Amino acid sequence: MLLEDLRWRYATKKMNARVVSSEKLNYILEAARLSPSASGLQPYKIIVISDKELLEKIKSVAFNQNQIIDCSHLLVFASWDRYTNERITKVLNYIMDERDQPYSTMESYKKIIINHYENMDPASQAHDAEKQCYIAFAMAIAAAAEQKVDTTPIGGFRHDMLDKLLQLKGSGYKSTVILPLGYRDINKDWLVNQKKVRTPKEDFIKEMTIADASEINSQDFTQSLGENF
Ligand SMILES: Cc1cc2nc3c(=O)[nH]c(=O)nc-3n(C[C@H](O)[C@H](O)[C@H](O)COP(=O)(O)O)c2cc1C
Repeated sequence: MLLEDLRWRYATKKMNARVVSSEKLNYILEAARLSPSASGLQPYKIIVISDKELLEKIKSVAFNQNQIIDCSHLLVFASWDRYTNERITKVLNYIMDERDQPYSTMESYKKIIINHYENMDPASQAHDAEKQCYIAFAMAIAAAAEQKVDTTPIGGFRHDMLDKLLQLKGSGYKSTVILPLGYRDINKDWLVNQKKVRTPKEDFIKEMTIADASEINSQDFTQSLGENF
């Protein structure tokens, strides 16, 4: 049950030396690969690291967080540094090839999304790709929990230094977030038995009806995505 798995998981602070099997690792990676993304562009990839020497170096640019060296595998989620006509075309053509459909079916939709990204400055483009990447990241966390594999979502690291270390600079990708996979050390992890605390439901969920909404003029926004995508 997903909710049980999500209650079981926590941001593990201390992992033991147990290795995650390749079956479980692949399951987690596949869940991330199956993640939805805007227009199916998947503007990210995952780098898998278990080399202890490299993990030591990563730890040194991540506030010395121990999970990075104690873990079995470290997943580095890296996202596109920007959207380009070429990148978008390549993915959309691939989708059409896989579906055995002519590129022309996608042409008008492609123009709309290329135009959408061209209207963004480079920093907003990179930010957009990171947002997509975080969805895959969440899928990996949930899949790991289902497999009873522990994870620590880690955003606390020097992105510029990790990019340099992993030679991402100039590759078109930037490190976004990292995820150690492993198993909790129940005797040494201070967080293991702490209560999971979340925003109360009444503050988190708001129901709305038209009576609570504002007037808007949607007449000006006539663009439609069409039927083929
Ligand atoms: C994007 C992101 C970045 C995070 N960065 C760190 C981190 O650098 N180190 C850490 O120990 N936990 C990190 N966390 C874990 C959060 O502190 C944790 O998920 C939150 O307190 C909720 O607790 P739980 O995951 O144990 O349920 C991060 C979580 C997310 C989603």
